[in-house]
Amino acid sequence: MKKLKIGTFPATILTLLVVYALVKWGIPALSREVTSLPFPLPVPGTLMFFYMVLTVVALFLIVTFSDEGLNDFLRPVKKLLRGGYSKALRAVVLTAIPAVIGWQVYELTVPKVEVPSSLRIQHPSSNFPRSFEAKKNPAAAPTGTEVETFMAEVKANEVQFIAQVQEDIEHWLEEAEPEHVLEFFPGPAMRKLLTQLPSGELDRDTAKAALLEKTLFEGRALYAMNCRACHGDSVAGDGPMADGFKLRPIDFTDNGTIETIVEGYTFWRVTNGGPGLPAEATPWDSAMPEWKLSLTEAQRWKIILAEYDLAQKTPRIPESH
Ligand code: HEC
Repeated sequence: MKKLKIGTFPATILTLLVVYALVKWGIPALSREVTSLPFPLPVPGTLMFFYMVLTVVALFLIVTFSDEGLNDFLRPVKKLLRGGYSKALRAVVLTAIPAVIGWQVYELTVPKVEVPSSLRIQHPSSNFPRSFEAKKNPAAAPTGTEVETFMAEVKANEVQFIAQVQEDIEHWLEEAEPEHVLEFFPGPAMRKLLTQLPSGELDRDTAKAALLEKTLFEGRALYAMNCRACHGDSVAGDGPMADGFKLRPIDFTDNGTIETIVEGYTFWRVTNGGPGLPAEATPWDSAMPEWKLSLTEAQRWKIILAEYDLAQKTPRIPESH
C-alpha cells in the first residue's frame, strides 16, 4: 500500500488544528456522554491555552529533532518567500501576517464601551406581585378547627404527621413503645399537653402551642430534606453544596436577608426560586430551585416557619397602607 505522504509543514498545521478541534468541541461532546447532562461542559480558556502550548512545544521538538526534519518543515516556507509558488501569493501572505497581528493588538488595546457595573440587588421588587405582600403564614397561626382536630387526634392517640417523617416515627414507635406518639417531642407545650391527657380535658392554648411545636418539627424535617444541602444545618448558607456556587446560598442568620422582608416575599422567593428573578437580580444566575415544582404550598409555609425559627429571626411586618 502506498503511504500517503504530506509534507512536514502541512502535517504540523493539521495537527494543531485537530488538537484545537478536539479540545474545543471533542471534550465538550464527550462530557455530554459521560455526565448525561443536557448541555456540554466547556473547556476553560486557560486549559485550552495550556493544551495548545504543550502541542506547539511537542511539535517543535519533533520538527527540530533532526536537520532533515527541520529542512522538510522549512522547505515550503522558503519556497513561498522566494516566490516559488507565485509572487501574488507571497504578497498576500506577507501582507496578511502583519495585518492580522495589528488587528489583534488593536482589539486588545482599544477602549471599549461597557455597561456600567451595578451591584446585584438581593431583594428585587420590580416583579414581586403586591398580592403576596400581606400574605400571612398559615402554619404560624392555626385556625380554631385545626386546633380542635389536633385535640381530637391527641385524645385518640392518632396524630397525623406529614408523609415524609411518617416512616421514622413508626420506627421510633416500634423501638420505644411509648404510651403516646407525642412523647416523641421534648417541647414544653407538648409535655404539658400530655400531662393533661389522663383527665380528658385539654387546654386549648396549650394544644395550640403544642400544634405549633409539631408544625415546627415538620418544617425542620422538610428543611433538612430540601434546603440543608445549600443553606446548611446552621441556616448560615454553608451547606455542603454551598461552595459550588458563585452566588452563594443566602445566610439566613445575616440581618440583611430574611429579616428585612415580609413573610409573603419570602414565600414568593421560595416558590419561584432563581428562575423567577428579574434582570436586576443578575449578574450571576441564582441556583435557588423553583420550589413550586416540588413542594406544596403548605409544605413551603412550614419550611418558612422553621427557617425563621432556626435563624432566630422574625419577618418584617407589612406596612399598612
Ligand atoms: C441548590 C442550592 C439551593 C437549595 C437546595 C436551596 N436554596 Fe435557597 N438560595 C440558594 C441561593 C444560591 C440563593 C441566593 C441567591 C438568590 O437570592 O436567589 C438562595 C436564596 C434563598 C432565599 C432568599 C433570601 C433573601 O433574603 O432574599 C430564600 C428565602 C431561600 N433561598 C430559601 C430556601 C428554602 C426554603 C429552600 C428549601 C426548600 C432552599 N432555599 C433551597 C440556593 C439554594
